[in-house]
This record gives sequence, C-alpha cells and structure tokens, in this order.
Amino acid sequence: MNLLLQQITAATDYLQSLSFGQPRVGVVLGTGLGELVNHIRIAHSIPYQQIPHFPESTVESHKGHLIFGYIGDTPIVAMQGRFHYYEGYTMQQITFPVRVMKALGVQQLLLSNAAGGMNPAYKKGDLILLNDHINMQPENPLRGLNSPAFGPRFPDMSCPYDPQLGTKLQAVAAAQGGALQSGVYVSVMGPNLETRAEYRFLRMIGADLVGMSTVPEVIVANQLQLPCAAVSVVTDECDPDNLHPVSIEEIIAVAGMADKKLSSIFAGVIAGL
Ligand code: HPA
Repeated sequence: MNLLLQQITAATDYLQSLSFGQPRVGVVLGTGLGELVNHIRIAHSIPYQQIPHFPESTVESHKGHLIFGYIGDTPIVAMQGRFHYYEGYTMQQITFPVRVMKALGVQQLLLSNAAGGMNPAYKKGDLILLNDHINMQPENPLRGLNSPAFGPRFPDMSCPYDPQLGTKLQAVAAAQGGALQSGVYVSVMGPNLETRAEYRFLRMIGADLVGMSTVPEVIVANQLQLPCAAVSVVTDECDPDNLHPVSIEEIIAVAGMADKKLSSIFAGVIAGL
C-alpha cells in the first residue's frame, strides 16, 4: 500500500477509536484565529503529538489540538493550529490532516487565515471570502506517487472554492451585519513579509491578498473532491507606495480583534450544514 495511505489509515483508526462518530464538517483555523473553539461543545481535544503521523505544531500562536465536537447539531473536527511550509514541514505533512479529515467522513471544509491586504479597498480587520487563488509556493502537495484512492492525478482547479459554501458564508455574514468582500489570495513561502516591489508584483499578477497558508490544503481538498471555502482576515494593509513596518505581534493582534466576528460567521454556517 502507498505509504501515505498507510499513515492516513493509522491516524484515522486512532481517531475513530475515540468513538466520536463521523464529523461532517472540517475546520482549519489560521494564525490568531482560535475563537471558534468557544462555539464548540467539545467532546475530545487531542494534542497533535498523540495522533500517529501528525506533524507537531511549532508556532507559538498555534495551539496544536484536533478538536471533535458539535456546533448546533453538526458534528465537526477542527484544527486549532495549522502547519506552514516556512516551519520546515513538507507539503505532504501540511496537508496530512485534510486527508485524515476526509477519511473520517468530513463532507465540507472551512479554512481561515491571516493575510496581507493588497487591494486598496480592504482595511485592517476586514473579512474577505476567497474566490480564487494563485499558488506561488515552491512545492506542491500532490507531487509524488498518487494513489487512485486520493483522486485524480491532475485535479481540475477551475473552481477551487465551493460557490454554495461561499453563498452560505455571505448570507450568514450579511445577517450578522457585515457583508464579506471577496478576492484572490496568493500563497507565498514566507516567513519574511514582502518588499514593496514584491507587493507591487503580486498585485499586478491579480492577487488581492497575500499569505503563507491555505492553498496547499485547498489543492488537496480539491483532489479529494471535498468542497471547501476560506476566509481571510486582513491583518495589514500592503500599499507599496505607503508601506509601514509590521510585526507578527501586530498581525496576531489584528487577527484577534476580527476573530469574534469570523467565528460567529463560521459557527452560523456550520450549525446549518
Ligand atoms: N504577507 C504575507 N503573509 C501575511 C501578511 C503579509 O503581508 N500578512 C499576514 N500574513
């Protein structure tokens, strides 16, 4: 059997031995965005290091727990803390949890992230629904032997973000008093932020937001034919003609301020799924 498939099976078997049943929705929470946990009736919170073949989180702002529980009546599994390429993981490690979620029975995936806003219409703290992406990371999670069990060797990416999930996120956001904007996310390796010339370039190629995550998970979700949606919090305004220095502490603080709003939108959507 394909080694990756064996590892997914081992992780899935371990998690199924907790007898939670089948989570219907998977969630990946981004940097500084853990508040959704307060909406979950938690059944199990499992440190990543207890799960066979799960990478361990190295970034302090990420807690590193896989949480099983309910929002409304919807059974979910949520990653509190994700893995980034800049931490040194391979793309296969980064996307391993998405494959495990699918094997556990997850039918829809929601992701969040902190991102730099390059579209001048965006302000710090805005929530942006991703409608497409540009992958500028230097490795691809689908590289290597493919098992037919995963899905196609050459997945179609003409519609990587599920329009129906997007419509639901828009509807819940509007009902809660704040319509979402939408935009294109470009993923970069990081960990440094961009130079003025790089922001100018990324804007020129068609991106509204820039960040260091999400795209690997979305590529794998598409291969697995797992419908997904992602929302970015704009944590810094990336205007190359008026660029201010920014620190990770500020990025996390801005994400934290938008977290309540984002989490109640996610919770509202999940409760209806
Ligand atoms: N660039 C890349 N990643 C980011 C940024 C940024 O400006 N802000 C938050 N994540």
